Amino acid sequence: MNVEKSETMPVRSGEDVVRVRQAVRSQAMAVGLSLVDQTKIITASSEIARNTINYGGGGDVRIETLTDGPRRGIRLLFSDDGPGIADIALAMTDGYSTGSGLGLGLSGAKRLSSEFSIDTAPGKGTRVTLTRWK
Ligand SMILES: Nc1ncnc2c1ncn2[C@@H]1O[C@H](COP(=O)(O)OP(=O)(O)OP(=O)(O)O)[C@@H](O)[C@H]1O
Ligand SMILES: [Mg+2]
Repeated sequence: MNVEKSETMPVRSGEDVVRVRQAVRSQAMAVGLSLVDQTKIITASSEIARNTINYGGGGDVRIETLTDGPRRGIRLLFSDDGPGIADIALAMTDGYSTGSGLGLGLSGAKRLSSEFSIDTAPGKGTRVTLTRWK
């Protein structure tokens, strides 16, 4: 697997979320994702960006375009230095929120991605990686 192109953006404000959505759209188009798949990865990126701001205290995202043989895709690596998540299984459960949300962001983002992983621990911050292949 090769990383073709990579850009890093801050994820600290609502305006940053708009910019992240625009950048994800443009890279998803560039790798040739269908309109439906573009919408899926854009929606997933918004959910994780909002978590990065609301729970992680802000952070950044690296947006990469990938090639794997004939396959192309887009990968998003969100990272924050916030409190981390003690129980990932619980956080991934539909309807679980420690805030005022619906608790559907993480589980929804996973369903909308081809590959999804979280690396987090209390006091260690949170890194969420989302990949959508064409
Ligand atoms: N980056 C993060 N740092 C620390 N905790 C997080 C982070 N992202 C998610 N969490 C924790 O996981 C829980 C579930 O997140 P999820 O996105 O599924 O729901 P929500 O943000 O609470 O609500 P919704 O996304 O539906 O508005 C959050 O309530 C929070 O406790
Ligand atoms: Mg959320």
